[in-house]
Amino acid sequence: MIKIALPKGRLGEKVYSLLAAAGYGCAEYSPASRKLIFCDDKNGVSYFWVKPSDVGVYVELGAADMGVAGKDVLDEARTDVYELLDLDIGKCKMCVAAKKDFKEDFTRPLRVATKFVNSAERYYSSISREIQIIKLNGSIELAPVLGLSDVIFDIVETGTTLKQNDLCVLHEVSNISTRLIANKAAYKFQRGDIDALTAKIKGIIGYGNY
Ligand code: PRP
Repeated sequence: MIKIALPKGRLGEKVYSLLAAAGYGCAEYSPASRKLIFCDDKNGVSYFWVKPSDVGVYVELGAADMGVAGKDVLDEARTDVYELLDLDIGKCKMCVAAKKDFKEDFTRPLRVATKFVNSAERYYSSISREIQIIKLNGSIELAPVLGLSDVIFDIVETGTTLKQNDLCVLHEVSNISTRLIANKAAYKFQRGDIDALTAKIKGIIGYGNY
């Protein structure tokens, strides 16, 4: 039995469809259900629905053998797992954005609003820019609009949120997408099963027929 942590929500449902198309469906699965664990003995899988930002914790600590998580979340938590495959979905960019008329004052630390504190600190340290982090949990785009920060360090998918709040991208920091991950010990002991699942998924991603 392979235990797989899936991110709750639309992305998780898409990933489940991908796994089902690869032969790892679960007879018990129902998107409307509030049940958090689904098992299928015949296909040798059990799925857990977890909060997207918690997938890495379940996999790193071995409560799940495998999982599906965004690269943004994995980088932020520096999750110690194997990244087996880029699923080519949930694609977006980690960006620095600001008000359209923003002019940087290099004589003082840059005030950066973000949910991704560690990733922002790493990025600004790599360019030797002193910053003051303003940690927020959502609606990050509000911060520069209200003068709480100079810039935001956040993910941009369609760009609609930036556009509707009169913000623009200053730098694209990295490409983000959804990754298939595995617990390191589980990969050692169940390598055959995990590699077989990964190969089947690899065979169908990008074809859009799931
Ligand atoms: C994310 C991100 C941006 C938005 C970008 O927020 O933090 O606010 O999506 O998407 P877009 O480029 O397609 O507009 P999320 O929906 O996770 O909500 P949040 O405010 O809780 O962070």
